[in-house]
Amino acid sequence: MSMKGKKGIIFGVANDHSIAWGIAKKLLEEGAEVAFSYNGERLKRNLDKILQNYPGCKLYDCDVSVEENVLKVAEQYKAEVGQCDFLVHAIGFANKDYLKGAFLPTPKDVFLQAMDVSAYSLVSLTRAFKPSMAKGCSILALTYLGSEKVVQNYNVMGVAKAALESIVRYLAYDLGKEGIRVNAISAGPVTTLAARGISDFTDLVKIHRKIAPLHETTTLEHIGGAAYFLLSDLSSGVTSEIMYVDGGYNTVAVGPMAAYDKE
Ligand SMILES: NC(=O)c1ccc[n+]([C@@H]2O[C@H](COP(=O)([O-])OP(=O)(O)OC[C@H]3O[C@@H](n4cnc5c(N)ncnc54)[C@H](O)[C@@H]3O)[C@@H](O)[C@H]2O)c1
Repeated sequence: MSMKGKKGIIFGVANDHSIAWGIAKKLLEEGAEVAFSYNGERLKRNLDKILQNYPGCKLYDCDVSVEENVLKVAEQYKAEVGQCDFLVHAIGFANKDYLKGAFLPTPKDVFLQAMDVSAYSLVSLTRAFKPSMAKGCSILALTYLGSEKVVQNYNVMGVAKAALESIVRYLAYDLGKEGIRVNAISAGPVTTLAARGISDFTDLVKIHRKIAPLHETTTLEHIGGAAYFLLSDLSSGVTSEIMYVDGGYNTVAVGPMAAYDKE
């Protein structure tokens, strides 16, 4: 129970397939007091259902693209919970019409919305919750390999994830002198609501399994375990890092020959 006495908030549980839920479950098991933020009434109903075995968790409605909402949830959290020892940003959004085919046609409004919701929100949430954070606080975001290498169909989300990873480094630099850490997990493909918006996602999962050194699909348990490490004092010397939880996929240039169509 090494998270006992630690309190924090998780953004991004849409249902029990969400990466954020994999992280939440592990933290709850380790004794943390976890508050949740959801985006809209429909998702609150999902949260109410999956939290049946965890009564008493505080829930806050917040669309992170609306600055006033972000400030309001941070104020409510400060008044009702007080300290923030961890904050998890597991939020991503881009118009799925542009998560297929070429990147070039991406219109400005689609680009800006993806950047706003998927990247800038880490800045606004960190700033808003800062008054509740003290030395030892750990902030965690979720990213994907499509930020640094081209992954077909990932398109504007790849650009937004590149921004998110850079934001992690700048925030870690700003907040390090106050003992606040900022890291990200770069997860392998997991079938979630958001991921289903990416064209050919099922094939991406299959290819990942064939090529990753561990030859398995990334699970919520894999990510939950790594998140627990990064959010707990076990990782007190770690900040500004992008940690891969992808079975080693990112390290392989050419995998098993059998995985490729050789004509
Ligand atoms: N699934 C994957 O393969 C994968 C891999 C690497 C990284 N990630 C990242 O993990 C994070 C979680 O995604 P997921 O795959 O668990 O999908 P998910 O659909 O379960 O979670 C995405 C969350 O983003 C929230 N969200 C979207 N727009 C929002 C807004 N305006 N305000 C507040 N919340 C908003 C949704 O409500 C949802 O809870 C995302 O950052 C995603 O890019 C996912």
